[in-house]
Amino acid sequence: MSRKALIIDCDPGVDDAVALFLALASPEDLEILAVTTAAGNVDATLTARNARLIRQLAGREDVPVYAGAAVPLVREPIAAAHFHGESGLGTLPVFEPAAPVAPGHAAGAIVELVMGRPAGSVAMAVTGPMTNLALALRLEPALAARLGTVVVMGGARREGGNITASAEYNIYADPHAADVVFRSGVSCVVLGLDATHQLRATPERLARIAAIDTVAARSVATLIGFSSDIERRLVGGDSPPMHDPSTIAYLLAPDLFTAVPVDLRVETTSPLTAGHTAVEFRLDAAAASVAPIRWVTQVDHAAVFDLIYERLAR
Ligand code: BDR
Ligand code: CA
Repeated sequence: MSRKALIIDCDPGVDDAVALFLALASPEDLEILAVTTAAGNVDATLTARNARLIRQLAGREDVPVYAGAAVPLVREPIAAAHFHGESGLGTLPVFEPAAPVAPGHAAGAIVELVMGRPAGSVAMAVTGPMTNLALALRLEPALAARLGTVVVMGGARREGGNITASAEYNIYADPHAADVVFRSGVSCVVLGLDATHQLRATPERLARIAAIDTVAARSVATLIGFSSDIERRLVGGDSPPMHDPSTIAYLLAPDLFTAVPVDLRVETTSPLTAGHTAVEFRLDAAAASVAPIRWVTQVDHAAVFDLIYERLAR
């Protein structure tokens, strides 16, 4: 494949960190222009620190990290520290990274990096609340036509919700931002819980990662080990879903995923169902041919894990 220019917008977060290790281990395929962070799983200071920490462990301080939104567009912040630990990185030992954040706000950096390149040439992976991208679209309305594909981890249809009965965390944490992005006309591929619940780190898969002798694999084994314990204690089961790494796997190997055109709307007003994604498959042929949003229905999970083992061994 040709090398893809990419911005990763995230809220690390245990599974965001796994996604970052996967992406940072793929320099032949991904030209990572920046990692941008927002408040989400933990507060904005910690998500920016965690992104810098992962970049240092991965030996990729060439990639700039821009800190962004400290609060959602409208609603109050809602953290998910019970799933990610107080630091956001579970039991991974944390430290103050050597290199600072890059100057400027994440939303401005997204605008500059995308507007400075040819139309359609910069993709994004968004693995947290979509606050930074919504702010960037507000700052520069021409951004929507300029962006390449935005690969989003968020939402749910068949699987209901994971933070409320009907909402997935990333959309629930900033439904108004998701609404701005999905209405913007930007081309999106969306990996909701319907897709990520197919991609589970079983004990056998975790053991295989733990047996790989690299810093990235050891760190990922610690991160997934933490998520496995949380899965046992809070959810039931021993195989946590790999939500955020699915975005990077899609960018590296889209053929491992089945995506269909949909209409997708976000509930922003109801207190009961805020953050719900109404995903409509029933589009006529004309609507389907121009639909900017595609929803992932199937994942070749065994092949995605093979890709993960191969990258973490590098
Ligand atoms: C999403 O919520 C966060 O807690 C995870 O990092 C992931 O992005 C899953 O619903
Ligand atoms: Ca995340």
